[in-house]
Amino acid sequence: MTSLITEAVVARLDLVGATARHQDLYTGAGADFYDRLVGPDRAEIREVLALARTAPGPVLDLAAGSGRLTVPLVRSGHRVTAVDLSADMLAHLRRALPDRAAVDCIVADMRDLALEGRYGLVVLGATSITLLDQAGRSRLYAGVRRQLAAGGVFALSVAGGASADSLTVATAREIAVPGATDDETYLFAQQIEDEGAVRVVNWVRLADIAPRAEVPVLTSRLHVLSPEILAGELTAAGFAAPRISPVRTAAGTDILLLTTSLADSAGGGR
Ligand SMILES: C[S@@+](CC[C@H](N)C(=O)[O-])C[C@H]1O[C@@H](n2cnc3c(N)ncnc32)[C@H](O)[C@@H]1O
Repeated sequence: MTSLITEAVVARLDLVGATARHQDLYTGAGADFYDRLVGPDRAEIREVLALARTAPGPVLDLAAGSGRLTVPLVRSGHRVTAVDLSADMLAHLRRALPDRAAVDCIVADMRDLALEGRYGLVVLGATSITLLDQAGRSRLYAGVRRQLAAGGVFALSVAGGASADSLTVATAREIAVPGATDDETYLFAQQIEDEGAVRVVNWVRLADIAPRAEVPVLTSRLHVLSPEILAGELTAAGFAAPRISPVRTAAGTDILLLTTSLADSAGGGR
């Protein structure tokens, strides 16, 4: 695997003789940062709640994170199982839940689903499918097939339009992220690798960049996937050709929601 620290971040730290300390985006301080970065984002919630309303059974929220989708589902009266690889992200989720909420939080790898229940809706939001390589996605699809109830729906999101285009271009820019009291400024850097198939992303708090300091760099490695690639993989894995619909977002970003069912269940994709 290539380095998780982008050249843009290395160059920025070199200017003051600082070095990078890699920190996974979804553990420890990374989990706090992610929650601040995307916690207020309402994208996909409306669409997922609409799917849950007609789902023939409970909801399985994969890569549930700090509960951006789980919490509204629970508040709308749905029984939810939230799966995430990061105990730190699920700790955020638990804190956000209402008292006596009907939620099972399970620390597990979504590539190795072996849950007892069957679910009327399996959801993988926030374009989290891009966290997995092809072999991982194949294992995920097989697991979702096992977990879906008869007539159940699998919904997953991916970037589309201009948002998708922006994922294929290297960038380094400053962004404001809500802090405990005020916004904090971070350097966001994206590096494209494997001939455009992979992007490495970094966030560095500017206030942490000091001469000769060891600076925490939040990192993630993501795969660049189109709705067409995912539709092909889903049908090859035994799902119906997915319905692809736009998600309304306040920020104007282009997100597409793919919804499908087992190819051999009545109705196919919806
Ligand atoms: C982009 S966040 C999405 C969180 C949430 N669903 C949302 O809408 O904000 C991705 C999440 O996937 C989790 N994750 C990464 N790899 C995973 C895996 N193999 N299995 C389960 N969860 C994983 C991370 O810990 C993180 O919480």
